[in-house]
Amino acid sequence: MIIAAVPGFPGNQTSLNPVGPGAGRIEGEFALIFWITAIVYCLVLIALIVYVARRRHSMSDIPEPMPTTPQSDRWAKVAVSGAMVVTVLLLFTMMIGSFVTGHALGNMNRQTAYTIDVYAHQWWWEVQYPNDEPYKTVVTANEIHVPLGVQLRIHGTSRDVIHSFWAPNVQGKRDLMPGYDTDVMMQIDQPGRWRGQCAEYCGEQHAHMSFYMVAEPNHQFQQWLEQQAQSSIAPSTPQTVHGQQVFLSHACVMCHTIRGTPAGSRVGPDLTHLASRATIAAGLLPNTIGNLGGWILNAQALKPGCSMPPNQMTGSDLQDLLAYLGTLK
Ligand code: CUA
Repeated sequence: MIIAAVPGFPGNQTSLNPVGPGAGRIEGEFALIFWITAIVYCLVLIALIVYVARRRHSMSDIPEPMPTTPQSDRWAKVAVSGAMVVTVLLLFTMMIGSFVTGHALGNMNRQTAYTIDVYAHQWWWEVQYPNDEPYKTVVTANEIHVPLGVQLRIHGTSRDVIHSFWAPNVQGKRDLMPGYDTDVMMQIDQPGRWRGQCAEYCGEQHAHMSFYMVAEPNHQFQQWLEQQAQSSIAPSTPQTVHGQQVFLSHACVMCHTIRGTPAGSRVGPDLTHLASRATIAAGLLPNTIGNLGGWILNAQALKPGCSMPPNQMTGSDLQDLLAYLGTLK
């Protein structure tokens, strides 16, 4: 519902439309199991219908159970043994398919992979792009930009309870546990915004813990990365200057970072480039002035239980704050 409400983001969260080799393998295994079970199901139903139809015809003539002959006995035994052999073969086929899929997923190349750090929080995703030069480290939230066709290593962990990282179009899900590092190897070959979400119940707002994987050509990704590594834009109009003061003098500063300002707390998402993100509150709402205003004033009405407290401020302070936040591209 929410997905459809976000303009330009089709509801593209399905493992049936793989956009990378990981999800492709899983989809292949799914198709194998689906078609085997579907065909077996249909054959069983057809056999049942034929049997019932025959019995009905013969019901009037033979009220008693059909007498068995040595020959019909033999045929019944052949049919049962045959069905057993076929069943075992099919089960083995599915099992081998599963092994092959698991092996292929486990063998995705780790050496050359591009690493992105993901930290799951109740209820949002912190995303970091490590850099040898620490000041170039990019920190963002709920939006994972990745270069197309490049082997990726999502290096994940949790900051609180067990979460699960799952972008069905891209790769199978993987639990992220506190105090334990997990690598998820993946690759995206199709440009687009691929929705993912937490797949392990993690509390009240588990359902509102989604993210987007944004796959773009490498040059575009590098541009994005370079831009995200910059400090925030200094406010340049009286309104945005005042908006920044509102930010720094209210509770916002207790939890959020805006690089280039004294705000440096890591409790909530880094807001240095907030305006460059398409959604707020872990994919809950499109990032519009109206939604952001409502979120700032009373996030608890939108996402009860989340860490964002209600904030009281005058209408003009809010306007200025929103104007300032809007400049944080
Ligand atoms: Cu995090 Cu469910």
